[in-house]
Amino acid sequence: MKLFLDTANVALIREIAAWGVLDGVTTNPSLIAREGRDFVQTIAEICDLIRGPVSAEVIAPDTEGMVREGKLLAGISEHVVVKVPLTPAGLGATRQLADAGIRCNVTLCFQPAQAILAARAGAAYISPFVGRLDDLGQDGMQVVRDIAAIYAKNPDIKTQVLAASIRTVAHVEAAALGGAHVATIPPKVFSAMVQHKLTDAGNEAFMADWAKTGITDVAAEVARWRAGR
Ligand code: E4P
Repeated sequence: MKLFLDTANVALIREIAAWGVLDGVTTNPSLIAREGRDFVQTIAEICDLIRGPVSAEVIAPDTEGMVREGKLLAGISEHVVVKVPLTPAGLGATRQLADAGIRCNVTLCFQPAQAILAARAGAAYISPFVGRLDDLGQDGMQVVRDIAAIYAKNPDIKTQVLAASIRTVAHVEAAALGGAHVATIPPKVFSAMVQHKLTDAGNEAFMADWAKTGITDVAAEVARWRAGR
C-alpha cells in the first residue's frame, strides 16, 4: 500500500518527505483554506517536493467548469491529479478528463455503488472516506474492503482504492489489510505511526550500553580498523 500525506502544509510535507516513505499528497478545499496561502503556488511547491501524485480539487459545480478547471490544474505539473466530487457532474468531468489523459481522484465516496460508477467513468483513484462514516456510527473501513473486493473481481477496472479520512494508526493498518492501494494520512497520524514506547526505551538502553564502550567516533573506529588490516 502506498502512503500519501493528507495536508496542504508545505513545511509538514517537507518534514515527512525526508523520511523517504512518501508516495504522494492529497489536498482538498478545506486543507488549502486552512493554510491561507496562494492555491496554485502551494500545489506547484508540493509537486516540486514530492514528484508523485498530488491531488488538487476542482470547485466548479458543473461538468464543463470542472473540466476547464481540471485541465488548468493539470497544467501546473505532470504530478497533479485532479480531484473531482462524486456527483453526476463530477462523473461526467472524470470521463472527459480521463479521455484527455488527465488522472482524476474521485472524492467523497461513501458507498461501493459510487465506487463502481467512478471506475466506469475512468477514475485513476477512488477516495472512500473512512472517518466520516465512522463518525456516523458506521464501519467506514468495511466500505474500503468492499470496494477493494469489487475491483478485484473486475480485472478490467484499473482504478486504485485510496483510503481517505483516516483518523488513526489502526485505520492505516486496516486499510492495508483490507486491500487499499493507497492510504492518505494526516500528519498527526503519520507521526503516530513511527512511535512506540518500546522503540524509544530500546534505543535509550542501547545508547546507555554503548556509552560504556567509550567509543564516540564510529568513523575513527572504521579508519583505525582499515589501517590495521
Ligand atoms: C482526502 O483526500 C480527503 O479530502 C480527506 O482525507 C478528508 O479527511 P477528513 O474527513 O478528516 O476531512
